[in-house]
Amino acid sequence: MRIGILTSGGDAPGMNAAIRAVVRTALHTRHSVFGIRLGYNGLIAGDIFPLDHAGVANIIQRGGTILGTARSEEFMTVKGMRKAAQNMIMHRLDAVVVIGGEGSMRGADVFSRRHRFRLIGLPATIDNDLYGTDFTIGFDTAVNNALEAIDRIRDTASSLERIFFVEVMGRTAGFIGLTVGLASGAEEVLIPETPTNLNQLVRSLRQNIKKGKKTNIVIVAEGDEAGNALEIAKKVKKMTGEDYRVAVLGYIQRGGAPSARDRVLASKLGYDAVRALRRGGSGYMVGEVNGKTVYTKFRDTYRRKKKIDLRLYKTLKILAD
Ligand code: F6P
Repeated sequence: MRIGILTSGGDAPGMNAAIRAVVRTALHTRHSVFGIRLGYNGLIAGDIFPLDHAGVANIIQRGGTILGTARSEEFMTVKGMRKAAQNMIMHRLDAVVVIGGEGSMRGADVFSRRHRFRLIGLPATIDNDLYGTDFTIGFDTAVNNALEAIDRIRDTASSLERIFFVEVMGRTAGFIGLTVGLASGAEEVLIPETPTNLNQLVRSLRQNIKKGKKTNIVIVAEGDEAGNALEIAKKVKKMTGEDYRVAVLGYIQRGGAPSARDRVLASKLGYDAVRALRRGGSGYMVGEVNGKTVYTKFRDTYRRKKKIDLRLYKTLKILAD
């Protein structure tokens, strides 16, 4: 087989480990692998090159993606997909492994059905918002990155006894917010999966101050329906008069060396993706649920919604009380 590989959407730490796993597994079983630069845009432009054993050396520890990535609008057009299909034929690619998040799986779904190519997906996004896997590649590192920053913020927050609003990423999902909230011992977490009631938030913050708590850290997931961290902070200031500071963690969450967990997940799933192709598989994403490899049709990965574990929310509230 001649297998293409691309990374698509927002980069996620561990993508390189997944590329390495796919390349090395494929070469081990005597298949050829071709890197496609800048996501689906590279497939449209024919930016395709052979990858060998040495081409993926020393990348397991690197964040970002050596292939580059893009959120390709052109690929979602009939014309864009046609160009991509022509390049698949020209480069004699039998299959493509797509490493990315929801939008990437959607693209793979449409492309594989419209042009009948063999595609296999690997879940990689810091947001963890893909159905068909307990964890996506990159989530664990992002959580640890955010956690490190919040621990530092706690030092200054407690010294000055200020309310801190810390905004974390996650697009429309609260997986990062909730996990990091519990792990950092935050007082409050605002995520899109639970209704945000500012009166209730203010009551809690006041109670905390009354109890003598020196820190009041409020984690705000960027997708929260009440607004971003600054907007919420301003409203709370109006209601309480309390001084506050805002920290938007932003892209530092997405960068840096992948955690051991992300490297292991990426390596296992990359290996499994090639095995799936060797068995003739296509049209699904390879993920891990309860420690077992599972195969989920592309369509289900983005149409079905992965549930957030709200028990964590309850636990957080009790522990932070
Ligand atoms: O999907 C990953 C993510 O980092 C989200 O958490 C965030 O909302 C988005 O990407 C930012 O997108 P961009 O990299 O295009 O600015």
